[in-house]
Amino acid sequence: MVVETRDVAAESPGAHAEHRVPFTSEWLDMIALKAPRNPDLVPVADQRIARAMGIIQEALAQQGAGGARSVPSAGALFPYDIVLLTEEERDGALRPTAFKVDLVRRFCLRLPVAAEPVEALHTELARGCTLAHPDHFLVLARPWLSMRKYGPRGHLYTHLDAGHAATNLLGIALGRGPAELRLRIPRLAIRELLGALLPYREAHSVISVAPSGPAPRNDQVWIADQAADAPADSHGAMEEFCWSQIPQELPEGGDPMAPVMSRPVVDAGDRLSQLLRIGRHEWRLLARLRRSCKTFAREATDAPDTAAALNTLLTPLPTDLQVSEGKPGAGLRISVVVAPGPVADACRAWLPSADIRLIVSEVVADPDGMTRLCQGQGHISAAQALVLFHVPRDRFLVPGRPQALRDLLFQASAAAQLLYLGATRQRVAVTAVGGFDAYGLREVAGLGSDEEVVYLLALGADGGGKEKTDRLAIAHAHGE
Ligand SMILES: Cc1cc2nc3c(=O)[nH]c(=O)nc-3n(C[C@H](O)[C@H](O)[C@H](O)COP(=O)(O)O)c2cc1C
Repeated sequence: MVVETRDVAAESPGAHAEHRVPFTSEWLDMIALKAPRNPDLVPVADQRIARAMGIIQEALAQQGAGGARSVPSAGALFPYDIVLLTEEERDGALRPTAFKVDLVRRFCLRLPVAAEPVEALHTELARGCTLAHPDHFLVLARPWLSMRKYGPRGHLYTHLDAGHAATNLLGIALGRGPAELRLRIPRLAIRELLGALLPYREAHSVISVAPSGPAPRNDQVWIADQAADAPADSHGAMEEFCWSQIPQELPEGGDPMAPVMSRPVVDAGDRLSQLLRIGRHEWRLLARLRRSCKTFAREATDAPDTAAALNTLLTPLPTDLQVSEGKPGAGLRISVVVAPGPVADACRAWLPSADIRLIVSEVVADPDGMTRLCQGQGHISAAQALVLFHVPRDRFLVPGRPQALRDLLFQASAAAQLLYLGATRQRVAVTAVGGFDAYGLREVAGLGSDEEVVYLLALGADGGGKEKTDRLAIAHAHGE
């Protein structure tokens, strides 16, 4: 955790001009590296918190047999925080408490917030929830972590990353008991509660879980109290600058609460096989094995496996998405681009259907063309299928309705997380791609100029490789 200790409010350019400090102390202040605060960790044997922490760790931090965390992230930056809102026994009564989860050092930081707003938020979240006495995982997207590397486009990656995280939290929680995910959440109440301690965060979603079922075997958790006078967890003016680039409607506005329904996150039609959706217990296993492909190989994949991976899109998830079933084209659309040959033949057996289109194009067999489509990323050139997530701009860029954009980006990332799991099951190599040539992809897929491609997944055969180029310090696919 990096903590900015300078006074954020005093850093406006105007303040500097008025009270000019000698340049030496200004510079020394600028480079000062404060000693890290080592919180006093206390071991707590609280089954409920241990269980919640177990889900969060498994879903977001733990490295599985695939040598990776259970979720991908652009540049492995993981631009989000998780706040756990649970009830803790204090003074003989159960009291709502907010903890910030330290995913890297694996402990909970009890946040110094007033009891009343925590209780109010806890009650408000419980009201729209179908579970009794739920715990809530608040996913708070932190755009700065991605935007400082990728510039303004990092905001798109932040939403996609947070969507992968939220979906996987839901899937892992479902593997242990009842859970649900909501995108229509009381953003204002969340900001009022946490904004001072955790500024420059967008409340992305809330995953609510029933606090039952077994806690992990090692059921002790480590908890520290955050000091009441601790400074805000932010990078001050630099983070504020990234924040100022984001249309302010996005962090704030949102649709009112809506009922949670269990159904696929995209309209996948009826030609895919129900049998191949991801089962609740299978999710945890596949998430542990998942990883992103570092280089695709030219060798052929088993064509039916590539097509079968797409069937996971039928997996129903309990969310408050308002998917317009039976109205093709109303939500996220998917185009699968493959070369002529066996993969195309296998895909034809299941696709196209509902909002999923199949495009057979020679460009997939052309390494130079594929490299161009992926902004010079040669390691993707031998992929055998490109899965494009897209939608007409006027469907999701609706003035006064930021929820439409949030829903769409969530749909894309949830579908992508499912495809990662499906590809893992079918032993097909997969990687998410954020650095792509949107104009070129539109042309290849025959999409109109008003259609926005928001995300891309590449599928194929694994060619090994040691390093994920996208993790280098430079933003490789952004021309650096
Ligand atoms: C939104 C998003 C965009 C990504 N963009 C790219 C990309 O352009 N090129 C690439 O090779 N990998 C990309 N990745 C994959 C990440 O590099 C990968 O998830 C990360 O290095 C962690 O590796 P792992 O998935 O194996 O755990 C992207 C991942 C996400 C979630």
